[in-house]
Order: sequence, then C-alpha cells, then structure tokens
Amino acid sequence: MNESFNTAVKKTCKRFGNDPNRMIDVVRQVQRELGCVNAEAIDLIAADLSVPRVEVQSCVSFYAFLSEEPKGKVIIRLSDDIIDKMHGYDRVAVAFCQELGIEIGETTPDGAITLERTGCIGMCDQPPAALINDVVVTNLSTDAARDIVRELRKHMDPSRLVKHLGDGANSHELVHSMVENNIRREGELIFTPVNPGEAIRKALALSPREVIRAVKTARLRGRGGSGFPTGMKWEFARASGGDRRFIICNADEGEPGTFKDRVLLTERPGRVFAGMTIAGYAIGAQEGIVYLRAEYSYLKEYLEDVLQKRRERGLLGENITGVFRADGNGGEERMRSFRRVHDTDKNGFRFDIRIQMGAGAYVCGEETALINSCEGMRGDPKNRPPFPAHKGYLGCPTVVNNVETLCCVTKILEDGPATFNEFGSKQSSGTKVLSVSGDCQSPGIYEVPLGVPLRMVLDWAGARDAIAVQVGGPSGQMVPPDQFHREICFDDLATGGAIMVFGPGRDLLQVVHAFLEFFVDESCGYCTPCRVGNVLLKEGIERIIEGRGEPGDLDYLQKLGESIKTTSRCGLGQTSPNPVLTTLKNFRSLYEARVEEDPDGYRRSFDMKAALAEAEAIAGRDSVNSH
Ligand SMILES: Cc1cc2nc3c(=O)[nH]c(=O)nc-3n(C[C@H](O)[C@H](O)[C@H](O)COP(=O)(O)O)c2cc1C
Ligand code: SF4
Repeated sequence: MNESFNTAVKKTCKRFGNDPNRMIDVVRQVQRELGCVNAEAIDLIAADLSVPRVEVQSCVSFYAFLSEEPKGKVIIRLSDDIIDKMHGYDRVAVAFCQELGIEIGETTPDGAITLERTGCIGMCDQPPAALINDVVVTNLSTDAARDIVRELRKHMDPSRLVKHLGDGANSHELVHSMVENNIRREGELIFTPVNPGEAIRKALALSPREVIRAVKTARLRGRGGSGFPTGMKWEFARASGGDRRFIICNADEGEPGTFKDRVLLTERPGRVFAGMTIAGYAIGAQEGIVYLRAEYSYLKEYLEDVLQKRRERGLLGENITGVFRADGNGGEERMRSFRRVHDTDKNGFRFDIRIQMGAGAYVCGEETALINSCEGMRGDPKNRPPFPAHKGYLGCPTVVNNVETLCCVTKILEDGPATFNEFGSKQSSGTKVLSVSGDCQSPGIYEVPLGVPLRMVLDWAGARDAIAVQVGGPSGQMVPPDQFHREICFDDLATGGAIMVFGPGRDLLQVVHAFLEFFVDESCGYCTPCRVGNVLLKEGIERIIEGRGEPGDLDYLQKLGESIKTTSRCGLGQTSPNPVLTTLKNFRSLYEARVEEDPDGYRRSFDMKAALAEAEAIAGRDSVNSH
C-alpha cells in the first residue's frame, strides 16, 4: 500500500478525533483528497475508527457523492429533475457528452473529468444547472456546456468558471457564486431586516417554559412539510430525561423543486442560528447541528464565518447571557431576573453549533435518517417510536426543525406571538416561503401569508396559463386549474414550499414518470413495498405512456399506490405514490385517453418480443418465429 495514501487517510481520521460518529466527515474528506474511498481506505478507516469494515463500506455505498471507484479530479453532476428537463437538460447533457467524448456515468480516459447525473440540486429557479465539484453553474446552454469543458481542460479549476456573481450574499467572498436569490416577494416576517441579538435577548429574558409558550401562542407549525406544532415538539424534548439534548437544523432540502432554504441560509443565516439558539435554551440543549446538504457545500465556509462572528459577539458559545450585561439597557436587571428564574446556571446559557455536511441522499431529509447520518452511518430511516424528541442523536432527546421554522421562531421572539398571528389563516399562522419554478415568467422565492389562494401565487409568478401545478414537490399533489382557488395552508394545500408550474403542451404523465424515477433512485431499499412497489408503479406508467396500457391498469396503479403508502416504513414510501394517485384523481382523462381497449381485442400490455426472448432463455434455444 502506498505510504502517502496511508498517511493521508490516517491523518483525516485523526482530524476528526478517530470518532466513529464523524464517519461521514472522514469519508467525505478522503473522497475529496484521494478521488475515491477504495478498499484500502475502507480498511484503514475501519481500523482507526474502531468500527467493522462493513459499516464503512455500507456507508460509502449509500451516499451518491461517495464512491469506491476512482472518479475524475473534476466531477460534473448534471441536475436532472423535471424542471431541468423542461429547460433543456437533454440538449446540455448531449453537449457535455460530445465535448468530453464520454457518456454520462463515465470518466475521460485521462482520468481528469467524470460526468454524472444527479437529482435536484436546489436550483430550479435557474435551470438547467449543474455542480462542478462544489461549484454551482446555472442557466446552462449547449454553448456554455462546451465552453465549460474547454476551460476545464485548460486549468481544471472549477472556481474559475464563475464569471459573474449572484445577488446578495452570493457575491460574498466566501460564497463567490453565480447563484441568484431570485427573491420576488419579501413578506412581512421572514425577509424583514434583522436586528442581530434581539430575539435571543428577548428569549433569555423569559424562562424556557415561557419561550415554549410564546411559540405555542404563535401556533407555529413546522415548515419542513409535516406541519407538526413546534412548541409541542419542544415540550416533548424538554420533558424527556437525560443531561444532554440536541437541536438539529434540517438543511437537507432535497425535495425536487424546493430551494427556499438555500435562500434563507444565504440571506438570513443569523435568523436560522438565533432560532436554533432559542430552541436550545427552551429545551435545555447546549449543542446544535446544522445538517447541510452536500449540494450546498458552496455555502459552508460562509456559514462557518457567520457562526464564528456570532461567537465573537457573545451570541454563541459560553455564557450567552453575557450579552445581557453589556446591553446597557436594563440588562443587569433582566440578568438578575433570569437567574431568579433558573437559579442554577451562574455562568449563563451555553450553546454552540456545528455544521454537518451530507453526502448526497434525499432520504436523509427524513429526520431519523438525518440523525443516523449525523452519527456517521447510512441514512436509513428508523422505526418510530421512539421519536427523536425522546431518543434522537446519540440516544439523547433531539429536536429536528426545518430552516424556515427556525427563522419563524426568531421572528416570534423578535416581535411577539401576536404579530406572528396577524398573518396567515385561522388554522395556519404566519407566512410561508415558497419556491416557485417551471413554466412561469418569474420563478423564484415568494414569502406569502398562509391561506393565500394558489391562483394568486400563480398571478404573481406570471403563470396564468398553467395546466397543472405540483404543490409540495413530487411527494405532494398535482392540482388542476379548476382547483387553483384552493389555499396554501396546512389544512388545504400543505407544502414544504415547492410549487412547480406546468404550462400548455406539457405531458403530465411524463412528469409523473420523472417523479417516480426520482423515488426509485432515492428509496433506501429497506422495505419491499417502497423498493419494489415504486419500480412497479414506474413500469405501469411507462406502459401507459408507450401505448401498451389497458383500462384495468388504472385500478391496478390505484391499489398498488395505496398499498405502498400504507405499508412503507417512512415518509418517502408513504408519499411516493402521490404523483400517481393525485393525477389518477385529478387528471383521470389523461390516463383514460391512453388506455383504450384495443379494437382487435389484443392485450396491449403483452410484449410479444419480450415474451419470446424469455421463452427462448428458459428453453435454451432460439424460437423458430423469432427471425
Ligand atoms: C423523505 C423525506 C425527506 C424530507 N426532507 C426534508 C428536508 O429536506 N427538510 C426538512 O426540513 N424536512 C424534511 N423532511 C421532514 C423531516 O422528516 C421533519 O419532519 C422536519 O425536518 C421537521 O421539521 P419541522 O417540524 O420544522 O418542519 C423530510 C421527510 C421525508 C419523509
Ligand atoms: S419507505 Fe422507502 S425510503 Fe423509507 S425506509 Fe422504506 S425503503 Fe427506505
């Protein structure tokens, strides 16, 4: 074994304290430095982290951004979600292939450049897009693809591909990215200007229970998709035993069509971190983790810098209540009352945050999978109960909240729950940040009051001729025009934020097919209904698209979809049939038009060629009719 290779791997393990819980960091770093995590590296990591070899190997095989096989020095990952496809993904992919002289999934013969496809990289407002190592390139054209390859061949430095900088903090020297925020509508809460430290100061003037009560009074519900009441989740975690508790910010944002957390992290990171700090204070946690998806690596250094500045200002780290004493505004008095309330912690409140990078797996957005990933393992979802609030990260009570939820927390403490309640509908308070993409004039970010009719959002975005809108990403629902009056809120059209618009001429069954391809790719494979059922759903849709479907297929797809939903272990399988089920319900005529009875009475789904091939394989000889 090569000595320097050996040393590099061991050094990386040591850098992360030979801690098995930091395995993802170790393998990511080895991948970055050595271009793969091969068999020798796996042996070394297993030995140094004192874990079975199979654990390292199964971790490497799980994540899309890790590989046992050597990859090129530069990896081009083309985002291939439906929005990228609608905006020229195929043409761009062909241009890359031709210029590189390879197919997707291959590496150039000199080992320099690998070309791959990947799921949504969170840039649906500026498609087609790609990741080149950690560098994001957007609004790609065939010419741009060819230029990129020619340039890379000259310098092999992806950072030099950034020719112009995006708006806002995208142009910060630590981000240095061409990504645009595309904030189209700044609402009344989340995108308002920030007064750093204000929310924390106000929170610490209350007791932890009072902070939870404020969040409950504001009726805050989680913005990550599930809509679970945030205050209640915090109460569960606070009531759970043990000395150590954790706050995790879910910044995995893998749902195709969703990119609002990207913009919140870019433009309002202080609000996210303040929300985590307040949550920590409320539940009695001293440690926070931001789980940042690998696709957003370009934000990591910038976010680390924001965290460091907060430490320097006393808003993170030891003795956060120190800011009380220094504010010269009655702080001493509040500090005394704080101590009266808590009476224990003479050094004040301690809380810090670290960033945990993901490694390319949509299912890691599911909170139990995310916790596994934070612990250095494969991102397999777990059975619940126990819920993370009782037994989460390292077996300790853990609250997982979405990026936007944490921004809401900060705003509630800044302005008070009454102000938060002024916005939204009866059942859904506050605003919602939407990611609008697809066939519209102004794709981007819209902060809207909850309860707003979908039609109004479409008007703002310039999508007046939409034939269908997918609300909530692939796991959400396909809404037809006669339902555009429906409201975006938890009790009607619930969404984690994705609004994908489909205009005239789009084939909705192709959209359904693309969503199913995504779920087939992203299923962790643990349960059969999800692993196999989604493949069967996809094949069923393929038959119908290709004109081989029969009327009975609709009933079959319906029953199959329902059974996958009810028998899958986690939210991925429980929602993956939604594209089929909601289009069967709302766009049934599209299916019926393609599954008419064959006038000659033949079964359309019967594939003569495939059946003959199968028979030949079984019989071990050619059929006389096959030639
Ligand atoms: C497959 C899958 C992916 C998910 N991805 C995300 C995600 O990217 N971000 C997120 O906040 N929640 C995601 N969730 C929901 C989380 O499991 C969890 O409910 C959420 O982070 C809780 O935060 P909240 O209460 O603030 O909404 C996902 C759920 C599933 C089933
Ligand atoms: S439902 Fe799918 S993603 Fe979830 S545990 Fe089962 S196989 Fe894995």
